[in-house]
Amino acid sequence: MKALVLAGGKGTRLRPLTYTLPKQLVPVANRPIIHYVMDQIARCGVKDVGVIIAPETGEQIKESLRQNPWGLSFTFILQDEPKGLAHAVIVARDFLGDDPFLMYLGDNLVGETLEGFLEEFRATGPDASILLKEVEDPRMFGVAVVDGQGRVIRLVEKPKDPPSNLALVGVYLFSPAIHEAISEIKPSWRGELEITDAIQRLLEKGREVRCSILGGWWLDTGKKDDLLEANRVVLDELVRRRVEGSVDSESKVLGRVVLEEGARVERSTVRGPVVIGRDAVIRDAFVGPYTSIGRGCHLQRVAIEHSVVLDGARLLGIERIEDSVIGKNALVESRSLNSKALRLMIGDDAEVLI
Ligand code: DAU
Repeated sequence: MKALVLAGGKGTRLRPLTYTLPKQLVPVANRPIIHYVMDQIARCGVKDVGVIIAPETGEQIKESLRQNPWGLSFTFILQDEPKGLAHAVIVARDFLGDDPFLMYLGDNLVGETLEGFLEEFRATGPDASILLKEVEDPRMFGVAVVDGQGRVIRLVEKPKDPPSNLALVGVYLFSPAIHEAISEIKPSWRGELEITDAIQRLLEKGREVRCSILGGWWLDTGKKDDLLEANRVVLDELVRRRVEGSVDSESKVLGRVVLEEGARVERSTVRGPVVIGRDAVIRDAFVGPYTSIGRGCHLQRVAIEHSVVLDGARLLGIERIEDSVIGKNALVESRSLNSKALRLMIGDDAEVLI
C-alpha cells in the first residue's frame, strides 16, 4: 500500500494567509496541517508517500517535511496546474504503479485513526472505499448516497440539492481500477477532473465502492472560523502540558500549556489549553484558552483568547483580542488611548473588525 498526499492546488479561501503560505502549511496548535496528515499515514504503517506539489509552493512543502520525524519515504510529484484531484492521480501514475493506495487531501484534519478503515478495505477488497461524515450543509463537498450495508450507490460533487448529508472527507482508498475510471471522465463545470466523478464512474461500471462513516471530528480548514475551530479541537484533544520556557515568579501558567524552549512569560497569566512557540515573549499579558502563539511572537499589555497568531507577530497594548487569526510578522499596536484615529497598513484581503 502506498499513500498519495495532495498538497498542490490554490488556497484562495484562507486569504490573505495563503498568499505566502500554502494552505497545507497553515498551523494548527503550532504544527502545519500536513504534519497531522503524515502522523495519520505513519500510524497506518504505510511508508511510501507520494506528495503532489504545485510549482509556486512546492519548495515550502518540501522544506516543511525535510526533518521527517516519521521516517517516511517521500516522492515529490509536481503538478504543473491544479486541474483537479483526479488529475493529480494521473500525474502520480508512475509513482503509484499498480499498487492500491491511500489518498489523503493535505488540508484535511481527521480526529480518528485510520487503521480500521484500512483493515476493512483489505478484508473486503472493493475497488474504492471512501470516508464519510455527516454534516449540516453538504453543498460545498462531495456527497454520497449509501445503502445499509456500507456500500455506496451514488456520488455527486458539490450538489446544489444534496441527496444526503454524508460528505466525502478527503481520505480515500483505491485499487488500481481507479486509473481506468479516471481515463473515462471529463472535466466538471469548474474545469477540474473530479475524483468524485471517477468514483461515480467505478459505480457505473459495476465495481464495488464501500464507505466508512467517521465517528470522530473532521475539520476542513477552509476559512477563518474553520481554522479557529480546528485549533480549538486540536488544543483540546492533543495538547499535554510541557513547560520548557521560562516563567517568572509573578506569572501563572495554568492547565495544559505548551511553552517551548526559549519562550518567556513575564508578569502574565496563561490559561490552557494554549501553545506558545519557541522564543516568544509574553509580558504583562493574559493568554486565554484555545490560543496558539507562534515562534518569536511578542505580546505585551494584551489579553487574547481563542486565536491563532503566526510566527513573529507583535501584539502590543490591545485590551482584548478574540476569535482572531494574525499572520506572520504582523504588528497590531495601540499607541494612544486618547486618539480615535487608526493608523493601518493592512495587506490584501485582510479583515479588520473594530
Ligand atoms: O475537503 C473535502 C472535499 O475535498 C471533498 O468533499 C470533495 O469531494 C473534494 O472534491 C475536495 O473538494 P475541495 O474543493 O475542498 O478541494 P480543494 O480544491 O480544496 O483541494 C483539496 C486538496 O487537494 C488541497 O490540499 C489542494 C489539493 N489539490 C487540489 C487540486 C484541485 C491538488 O493537490 N491538486 C489539484 O489539482
